[in-house]
Amino acid sequence: MRFAGKVALVTGAGRGIGFASATELARGGASLVINDMDGERLEAAAAELRGHGVEVTTHAGSVTDAAFVEAMTTRAVADHGKVDLLLNNVGGGPPMTPWAEFAASDLAHFRAIFEVNFFSQVLVLRALLPGMIERGYGKVVCVSSMSAVLGQESGSAYASGKMALHALVSSVSKEVARKGVNINAVVLGNPPHPSRTEGRQAYLDKLSHFGRVGDLAEFGRAIAFLLSDDASYISGAAIPIDGGLLTPRLNE
Ligand SMILES: NC(=O)c1ccc[n+]([C@@H]2O[C@H](COP(=O)([O-])OP(=O)(O)OC[C@H]3O[C@@H](n4cnc5c(N)ncnc54)[C@H](O)[C@@H]3O)[C@@H](O)[C@H]2O)c1
Repeated sequence: MRFAGKVALVTGAGRGIGFASATELARGGASLVINDMDGERLEAAAAELRGHGVEVTTHAGSVTDAAFVEAMTTRAVADHGKVDLLLNNVGGGPPMTPWAEFAASDLAHFRAIFEVNFFSQVLVLRALLPGMIERGYGKVVCVSSMSAVLGQESGSAYASGKMALHALVSSVSKEVARKGVNINAVVLGNPPHPSRTEGRQAYLDKLSHFGRVGDLAEFGRAIAFLLSDDASYISGAAIPIDGGLLTPRLNE
């Protein structure tokens, strides 16, 4: 029960990485505040998480909406008294857009991708960090992607938005580590995703040192570690959870 007495807020917790991490936090006894823009998915996730015997409150809405984030975080503190742990998980790449298309546009789509991957996380961080500093305790993980480090064809907006997170956490960490708050990014290498085709999956399996992409629970456990007191001396870092993908295999 390493998270007993802790309150964790997880964005995009309806499925995927958010749900897998929330599950690990629930197993450790954390009370959960979970968010997703898909209300039905969110309630189904909450029902499953309550099965671990923890308190779960839900907030359906988009974390790109500043007013929604303000209302959600205020309510979370009113309901639970505090938020100790933040998993800033929301983000996403598709639709893939070639640079030439962005270049010929008014950049509205580029900015929208940045809003989801970068500013949504800034909004939640902005709302919760003051309380963490005041109480002298907080753990924050911001979810990034290996696209940030490697770059990605037709993924320039996504990759840049994710890379901006790395600079955010390394900068903010210098300001808050002495106030009891750890903040890190996780650089994910291809967790499973429902939209992935078989061919793409086979290609990604080959890139991993393990010959397979990780399962969601493996990502959830690594993220939960970074949100735990066992990671007390880790901050300001962009930590790969990627099966070795960031050091590519040179041989077949
Ligand atoms: N799956 C991958 O291949 C992969 C690779 C690298 C990084 N990531 C990152 O991992 C994180 C989670 O991705 P995932 O694979 O679990 O995705 P997913 O699509 O399985 O789940 C994302 C969840 O977030 C919700 N969501 C999306 N936008 C939202 C918003 N604006 N407000 C609130 N909820 C919102 C969705 O409804 C969904 O339930 C993202 O930041 C993503 O960029 C994923």
